[in-house]
Amino acid sequence: MNNRKMLFLAAVSALILTAACQTPTDSNNQNTFVNAPATKTADEIPNRQWWKEAVVYQIYPRSFKDTNGDGVGDLKGITSKLDYVQSLGVDVIWLNPIFSSPNDDNGYDVSDYQAIMKDFGTMADFDELLKAAHDRKLKIVLDLVANHSSDEHRWFQESRKSRDNPYRNYYHWWDEEKGKPNKRVSFFDVNGDAWKYDEATKSYYLHIFSQKQPDLNWENPKVRQEMYSMLKFWFDKGVDGFRMDVIAFISKDTTFPPIPAEYNDNWGAFYSNGPHTHEYLQEMNREVLSKYDIMTVGEIGVSAEDAHNFVDEDRRELDMMYHFDGVGLGYLPNSKKLIDPNGWKLTDFKKIYSKWSDNFDQKGWGTIYLGNHDQPRMVTRWGNDAPEFREISSKMLSTFLMTMRSTPYYYFGDELGMNNIKFDKIEDYKDIESINWYKGIEKGGGDLKQFLESQKIAARDNGRTPFQWENTANAGFTTGAPWLKVNPNYETLNVAAQEKNAESPLNYFRKLTTLRKKELTLVYGKYTLLDAANESVYAYTRAMNGRKLLILLNFKAAEATANTGLDLSKAKVLLGNYAAPSTDGKLKPYEAVVMELGN
Ligand code: NOJ
Repeated sequence: MNNRKMLFLAAVSALILTAACQTPTDSNNQNTFVNAPATKTADEIPNRQWWKEAVVYQIYPRSFKDTNGDGVGDLKGITSKLDYVQSLGVDVIWLNPIFSSPNDDNGYDVSDYQAIMKDFGTMADFDELLKAAHDRKLKIVLDLVANHSSDEHRWFQESRKSRDNPYRNYYHWWDEEKGKPNKRVSFFDVNGDAWKYDEATKSYYLHIFSQKQPDLNWENPKVRQEMYSMLKFWFDKGVDGFRMDVIAFISKDTTFPPIPAEYNDNWGAFYSNGPHTHEYLQEMNREVLSKYDIMTVGEIGVSAEDAHNFVDEDRRELDMMYHFDGVGLGYLPNSKKLIDPNGWKLTDFKKIYSKWSDNFDQKGWGTIYLGNHDQPRMVTRWGNDAPEFREISSKMLSTFLMTMRSTPYYYFGDELGMNNIKFDKIEDYKDIESINWYKGIEKGGGDLKQFLESQKIAARDNGRTPFQWENTANAGFTTGAPWLKVNPNYETLNVAAQEKNAESPLNYFRKLTTLRKKELTLVYGKYTLLDAANESVYAYTRAMNGRKLLILLNFKAAEATANTGLDLSKAKVLLGNYAAPSTDGKLKPYEAVVMELGN
């Protein structure tokens, strides 16, 4: 390198460094953030990764925006709204499955992994979406449904034809002359039976989900190679990562022994402990993932300890995983999501999220979410959707998600404070889970009323109602008949109305993403729980390199005080969900404050 080039590079580095270390611009406006002083420079933070610093925005394509009037959202709809998504300050869009599917489970039953679902559009629409997203510096993450395919996939159609079909071994078959296979439980089957008898070849096939979702046989190397080549197809197009559906379920002991007593009928844990799961994930990483600058996140319901085997850097498997301990709180044990009449305790909630945050303090990396397509709306479940508290409590929950030491996965519509639709009757539900559980309870003579009441809080369709764009027919989601009812509160709860209001949940969410972008302390800083026994307030600090932020969240509809033992006299509010935020730890109902602590 010649001297002039070296001087030029030195000048550029100095400029970058100055920009990174700019001191705060003070602001007297208590309701907005101030610029944060730089903490560590980029080089000083170990294991810095773009996906640790990203905010992921999940879009359920069926319900986002319909452009052809068929009542179902589509890819063109997403492309048409990318400016909106970009305006949120998020970095990554995760799309639920967009591949060809007969939609027994809304795309989680794939009939062709390299084609686009007709309802959603064409491959050309996808290419356009990807390009338009990248032009806006938004990344696109797809959903890999690899444990099972649709029974309408060509592989399964072949597989079921004869016992000697070349595709037979792509799935798990059990020939009838061996007798009935040992029990395996299906999550969606009306009878809970994961073995379905198929007359054509007089054998049973395995389906841990619905009968139309046969489990693929990952013990067959050909299946694994099919999956890897499919992943390469999408990565070569420029896709930025995959969320991996029930990925820990892929490996099975094909002798199908009885479930060992140690699992105590905990089927999820049993399925997640197959004999070769890690071997296959490492193979996938070696052959595909490691060759691209992408992110991966596994849907993996294992213990915090076992999670390390999936996401620690030196394992070379996945980048992140998400757990179910948090969203599983408040249900009666071993029930079909029946709400516990005693509710849930904030102290338990804090224990769970603290445990998972601490779990990745040194190794691995966490995720955090309160809503997704398998969950009800977060404000109904964890906040309070009564008219007087809906907005304030949803802002409080968003503050929690954006200030924890994990990559936030934020569900579309939560930025508006969308809440559960709470259907009264089973006929309104479209989700196979709700419908088949209902049928199963009906068959067994169980309490349908209790189930329907619980579904008002717990059902997945609550989180799948169409996005509320504006106060026109069907909330501006479609000109046709929406595939799932629109929440009638769209007349007042919609994007257009919230754009006009500086204090809306939408505009508050934008402040949160901006704050997280400015404050690397919120991404990488150490998490410390304070006042653990407080049943109303969740209080914690995030600290890095001498800089300390305090987050106070009141989870209750009554005033509450945080007993942090900290001197707040020099604290400065960076953001709060009330116009006049608390500065002394006394919090109004559902108040959230983010403060910078004086040294
Ligand atoms: C988990 C997905 O998130 C859920 O929506 C789906 O029904 C099951 N896996 C089966 O694929």
